[in-house]
Amino acid sequence: MVLVKEKMAIPIVLDHSSHQSLQGQIFDQLRHLILGGKLKPGAPIPASRVLAEQLAISRNTVLLVYDRLIAEGYLQSRRAIGTYVNLELPETSLAAARRVATLAPVLTETVIRPTIPFIGQSPIERNTRHLDFDFFPDRLDPDLFPHKIWHRYINKVSTGTNTHFSEYCDPGGLPSLREMIADHLGMARGISVSPDQIIITAGSQEGLNLAARLLVKDATLVATENPCYPGAALLFESYYAKLIPVPVDEAGLDVEQLPKSGVTLLYVTPSHQYPLGFTLSIERRLKLLDWARRCGAYIIEDDYDSDFQYRGSPLTALMGLDDYGCVMYLGTFSKSMGAGLRLGYLVVPRVLIQAARSAKALLNNGHAWLDQATMTEFIRSGAYGNHLRRMRHFYSKRRDCLIEALRHHFGSVRLSGLESGLHLAWHLPEDFPDARKLQALALSHGVGIYSIGSGTAYDYGKSVYSARTLILGFSSVNEYQIRAGIQRIADALADLPVPPPFSTATGRGAVVSS
Ligand SMILES: Cc1ncc(COP(=O)(O)O)c(C=O)c1O
Repeated sequence: MVLVKEKMAIPIVLDHSSHQSLQGQIFDQLRHLILGGKLKPGAPIPASRVLAEQLAISRNTVLLVYDRLIAEGYLQSRRAIGTYVNLELPETSLAAARRVATLAPVLTETVIRPTIPFIGQSPIERNTRHLDFDFFPDRLDPDLFPHKIWHRYINKVSTGTNTHFSEYCDPGGLPSLREMIADHLGMARGISVSPDQIIITAGSQEGLNLAARLLVKDATLVATENPCYPGAALLFESYYAKLIPVPVDEAGLDVEQLPKSGVTLLYVTPSHQYPLGFTLSIERRLKLLDWARRCGAYIIEDDYDSDFQYRGSPLTALMGLDDYGCVMYLGTFSKSMGAGLRLGYLVVPRVLIQAARSAKALLNNGHAWLDQATMTEFIRSGAYGNHLRRMRHFYSKRRDCLIEALRHHFGSVRLSGLESGLHLAWHLPEDFPDARKLQALALSHGVGIYSIGSGTAYDYGKSVYSARTLILGFSSVNEYQIRAGIQRIADALADLPVPPPFSTATGRGAVVSS
C-alpha cells in the first residue's frame, strides 16, 4: 500500500493486491474526496506527473483518471494553468454523496466487494451543462421520442379489463412481446429462435448481469475486445472475473489472438465494434464460432445499435450462424426508443433457458408489465417500424453532416464506424495533438469529444487506439450544432502556438491525414 501525504498531496491509498485496477482505485478515491467536500470546488489538483511520482505509478494511469474526471464533470482543466475541482459539480452526484455520507459508517463495515467505478449511463450524472456542443456517444435526441403515440398506447393497455397490474407475469417476459422480438430477429438479423429463448430485461445491462450470474465466478476467464464497452467489462469485474483483452483491427476482433483454451466467456460487439465501429468480417465470425466450440466457451453478442444501418444490409448476426448453441444475443431498445425505458432482451441457447429464467425470477420476478405491454402495441401497430425509419433518416443526415464537417476542416480524415450506429471514431494523424490533448482543448472551448480512455470506453491501455482515436456521437446534436462544434475545434487548433499543418480550401491550406 502507498499512502500519499505531502505538500499539495492528496490522501490516496493504493492496494496493489486489489481486484480493482489502479485507475479505478484512484478515480474512486478522488471522486469521493470531491463529493465528500474534502476537495472543494476550485481546489487545485496535483499535476499528473507529481501524483504519478508520489504513487509510484505511470503518469499515463493518472492522466486517464484525470481525463475521465474531466469528462464526467468533477474536474476542469485550465489551459496552461492546471487542473481544478469543477466549480459546478453534477447535482445528482452531490445528492447521492450526501445519502452515502449518512450511511458510511455502516457500509464500510459491511460492504465486502470493492467499489466498481461504473456510475451508470445517466446523462444527468455527467456535468455537460458547461458544454455548448457535446458529441458524447450514443445519446439520443429527446425531441425525437414519439411521445404522442407512446402515450396513446400506455392509455390503451392500462385501461380496461385486460391489464395485468395485480399479478406476477412470466419471469421471461410478456409472451406477445417475445413473439414479436423473435419475428424481428428472424427477419432483420437472420436469427431463428423460439420466443421461450428470449428473456425481457431492463436494458442490455441486465442481460449482461443474467449471463454473468450463469457463467462467471471468482477468477473465471472472460475475454473482451480491447477497447470495449465499460458496462460489460466492469460488470464482469464486479463478479471477480479475470479479464483478458483481445485486440481489434479493421475486421473486428482479432480471432487469432484469442487464448486457445481456458476462456469461459467472450463478450463481443460484431456489428459495430464498441467504440471503434469496425464490423466483424464473416470469415472471422465463422472462425470465432469454431474457436468457441473448441474451447467450450460461450459468446455474448451485444448487438446494441444494429437498427441503424446506413449502407447495405447488416451481416447475419453471430447467433444466426451458430450451429453449436454457444451464442447469447443481447438486444436493446435503448438506441431505437430511449435508454430511460430500460427495455432490452437476452436470447439464450436452448440449454440455458431454464437457468436464465430462474436467474431472472430471482433478481426481480420479471420485467414491469406496463412497459412490455406498451412496447408490444407499439410494434404490433406498425408505429415502431415507422419510428425506426424516421430515426434512421435523421441520424443518417447527422452522420453525413459530421463527416462533411470533419472533411471540410481537416481534409481526408481517417474515420471508422460509418456504416452503422450512432457514433464514429476519428483516428488522428501523427501531426495532430494526441486524443487526450485534443479532448482537453475542445473541452476548454465548450466542445465534448472523447478519447478512448475518457470513460466512454474500457481501455486496457495497450491498444493502438489509446492515444490517437477520438469518439464522436452524432445522435444528440443537430446539424447546426455539429457544424458549429467542429468549426470551434478547428479554430482552437489553429490558435495553438504551433498549429498542426491541417488546412482547407476555406483558407487553411492543404489537407493532412491518411
Ligand atoms: C456497447 C453497448 N451495449 C449496450 C448499450 C446499451 O445498454 P442498455 O441497453 O443497458 O441501455 C450501450 C449503451 O451505450 C452500449 O454502448
